[in-house]
Amino acid sequence: MIYLDNAATSWPKPDCVISAMTQCLKEYCANPGRGSHGLSSAAGLAVSRAREKVAEFFNIKDPLRLCFTKNATEALNTAIYGVLKPHDHVIATGMEHNSVLRPLKTLERDRKISLTLLKGNRFGEIDLGELAQSFRPETRLVVSTLSSNVNGIMMPIAEIGEMARSRGALFLVDASQGAGSVLIDVESMNIDLLAFPGHKGLMGPQGTGGLYVGPDVDIKPLMQGGTGSNSELIYQPEYLPDLIESGTLNTPGIVGLASAIDFIRETGIDNIGKHRHRLVERLHEGISRLEGITVYSRPEKGKNSGIVAFNFDWADSNEIAYILDKKYNIAVRAGLHCAPAAHATLGTLRRGAVRISPGWFNTMDEIEYVIKTIEEISRQKNLQFV
Ligand SMILES: Cc1ncc(COP(=O)(O)O)c(C=O)c1O
Repeated sequence: MIYLDNAATSWPKPDCVISAMTQCLKEYCANPGRGSHGLSSAAGLAVSRAREKVAEFFNIKDPLRLCFTKNATEALNTAIYGVLKPHDHVIATGMEHNSVLRPLKTLERDRKISLTLLKGNRFGEIDLGELAQSFRPETRLVVSTLSSNVNGIMMPIAEIGEMARSRGALFLVDASQGAGSVLIDVESMNIDLLAFPGHKGLMGPQGTGGLYVGPDVDIKPLMQGGTGSNSELIYQPEYLPDLIESGTLNTPGIVGLASAIDFIRETGIDNIGKHRHRLVERLHEGISRLEGITVYSRPEKGKNSGIVAFNFDWADSNEIAYILDKKYNIAVRAGLHCAPAAHATLGTLRRGAVRISPGWFNTMDEIEYVIKTIEEISRQKNLQFV
C-alpha cells in the first residue's frame, strides 16, 4: 500500500517514536505531577523534557508557555474561546479549517464577535493590501493557517505577524500543515498563539498537539479541574501550563512527540522540506499535463507545504479516491477535507478535490507509480467501480 494521506496524519512513524512510547508504557508511565513517588516524578520529568524540546523547536523562550493538548482542534478552540471578548473583531483567511471557522462562525452567529474573511486569489493566497484594509479599532485577533490543508498553499506568516503586531491585534497561527517541514519561529514571526498537532508533519502519535500562549496574551481555559497542582484552590490555577492543561496528560504520546522532534532535528527540517517539495513538484508536473485534469496547488517551493489537490473534469473526487484505494492500493483523501471555505475559494465546493499529501517516508518511485496510475485512469473515462 502506498500511503499518501500525511496531511490527515503522518504514517508510518519513526521507529524511535514507537520505542520511546513503548519504554514509557513499560517502565515509568505513572501520572505526571500527581504524586511524590518515583514513578510519578519520572513521568513528570519526561513531560518537562518534552515541553522544553518542543518549545525550543518553535523558538519559544519560556517552555512553561507551551501547553500540551490532544490535537490541533483543542488548541485552536482554546485560543479562540480563551482570548475573544464581546464586540471583538476577528480577521481570518479564506483557507481556514473548520477547527478555526466553526468556533469563529458560532461566535459571530451568537453576535459575540464580528468576522472578516479575506478573499485571496484563486489559490487562496491572501493579499496583504486586503488584510491591511480589514483592520478596525476593535480588531483583537488575526487568524491564519500556516498552509492550507486542501491545496498546501503557504501564507506569508511573518508579514501577517508584523502587520497584526503593529496594529495591536493578537496573531493566532494554525500550524497543522507545515510544522515539521517548515521553520516556525514564534519570536521573529510575531506569533502570539501557535496551535499545532503532534501527529501530522511532526511525526508524533495521534492524541498529541499543543498551544503556545505568548507573554502578552490573557487567556481563559476551556476546561477546568484535574490539574494535579494547587489542590487547595477552589479555582483553576492562573499560571501556565496548568491553566490550560486540565486532566491527566497523554504521557506516552508526549514522550513519543519529543522523540519525533529529535528525529526531525537529526534528519534536518530543511531536508524534510526539500524531500517533500521534490515529490510534490514531480507529482504536479506529472499530472498537470494530463488532459481533463485541473490542479489546484502551486508547485513552487515556499508556496506549498506538501500537497497536490486535483480533479478529473469528468468524475467526483470521491470516486477517484475510491478507485485509487480499491484498485491500485493508493491511500489519498477526497471530498471537502473539513475546509468548505477553502473549497469555496478554489471553486471546488460541489465536488471537493482529490488530495495527495506525501510525507518523509514516501519515495520518488512511489510518486512515479502514482503518476502512471493517474495517467491510466485519465485514459478510461467510463470506469467500472470495483
Ligand atoms: C489546517 C488544519 N487545521 C486543523 C486541523 C485539525 O487537526 P487535528 O485533527 O489535530 O485536530 C487540521 C487537520 O486536518 C488541519 O489540516
